Amino acid sequence: MTLENKKIGLVVTGGIAAYKSLGLVRELIKQGASVRVAMTKAATEFVAPLSFETLSKNRVLTDLFSVKESKYVAHIEFADWAELMVIAPATANIIAKMANGIADDFVSTTLLATEAQKILVPAMNEHMLMNPATQRNLKFLEQNNVQIIEPEIGFLAEGYSGKGRFPELNVIMSVIQASFEDSDKPLEGKNVLVTAGGTRERIDPVRFIANDSSGKMGFAIAIEAQKLGANVTLISGISQLPDPIGVTTIRVTTALELSEAINKQFDDQNILIMAAAVSDYRVQNVADQKIKKAESTLTLILEKNPDILKHLGQIKQNQYLVGFAAETQNGLENAQEKLEKKNLDLLVLNDVSNSAIGFNSNDNEVTLLRPNRKNDFIKQTSKKQIAKELLATVISDLAK
Ligand SMILES: Cc1cc2nc3c(=O)[nH]c(=O)nc-3n(C[C@H](O)[C@H](O)[C@H](O)COP(=O)(O)O)c2cc1C
Repeated sequence: MTLENKKIGLVVTGGIAAYKSLGLVRELIKQGASVRVAMTKAATEFVAPLSFETLSKNRVLTDLFSVKESKYVAHIEFADWAELMVIAPATANIIAKMANGIADDFVSTTLLATEAQKILVPAMNEHMLMNPATQRNLKFLEQNNVQIIEPEIGFLAEGYSGKGRFPELNVIMSVIQASFEDSDKPLEGKNVLVTAGGTRERIDPVRFIANDSSGKMGFAIAIEAQKLGANVTLISGISQLPDPIGVTTIRVTTALELSEAINKQFDDQNILIMAAAVSDYRVQNVADQKIKKAESTLTLILEKNPDILKHLGQIKQNQYLVGFAAETQNGLENAQEKLEKKNLDLLVLNDVSNSAIGFNSNDNEVTLLRPNRKNDFIKQTSKKQIAKELLATVISDLAK
């Protein structure tokens, strides 16, 4: 039994597919899991709680205020008990509530309170699913570590074919099983420092030199490393992304601030992954006041910023050092040179001339270069997946 003693909270919301979750409880129990079910009021219109209660052999939780035992608060106890929360089926309504932090009934309050991993199984009418509000909410949740199982295309309850169907139980079961395999923590006890985002160098009080880095790659690495059990410190330059939960995040602006923050952290780290896009130069004399439009040309004198990666390569002891190279031409050649010159253990090369990948996009396509090893090419995929594969490479190198 692959889910022996795993504590799984099943959250059922008010969709037509609610009855299919009865089958999910049976499968989970068959695999040895301990299952507790919570239902929204709407869900109880579709299936009686008694059915879930009988299959799960546990009381079904539906009402925030009805549990009167004073020794615990029911939704918090449930939120803390579960190792995994599966929301199946997930209505457009609960997706919207989760994406906005709304907690107005037992289910939504529990989902806001839990720190368990969440798997969301949306099922609804195609138009509800494709509505920009639902798409935006799903995207937000995905970016915040909620795993989403894509609804299937097929015959809907409305009598026509479209996207929105509840997936087959074996699909949901395999995602649940994989999520526990992922919960293996190979980076437990390791300190990992990740840098992300772009730096910003002042010209005057209202102008600066910056770059197109969004921070998405570095943030994805920090999040995945944390999931693998690492103590992660993220030093972020300019990025609109929120601080990842469970990661110590330090925000900086300039290359010098970034360098200083890294130096403070360096000695304690086991793995350093430098994904920030650091400005090579800064303005020598930053103007105190806004520069006036006067002459037909304006000369700014730039001076070199410290080469952070090179410095780390020189001072590293046992640390595993990963660098990033954003190239627009002669990528492999330049990357190979950078790997050697900067004494890196791994260099991630990405071609930022292609707008489908690289800066600001959600996808990337990279080559991993390591000393005396053949290069690994990872074809276009999400930055999250790149982060996973990159960390798997680091972990396998450290195990040697
Ligand atoms: C017959 C019927 C079927 C419904 N099916 C769905 C569905 O499949 N997916 C969905 O998101 N909403 C569906 N709804 C709408 C939800 O029940 C409604 O938005 C409700 O407020 C959801 O509440 P909850 O998220 O608290 O469970 C359906 C409503 C009815 C009356």
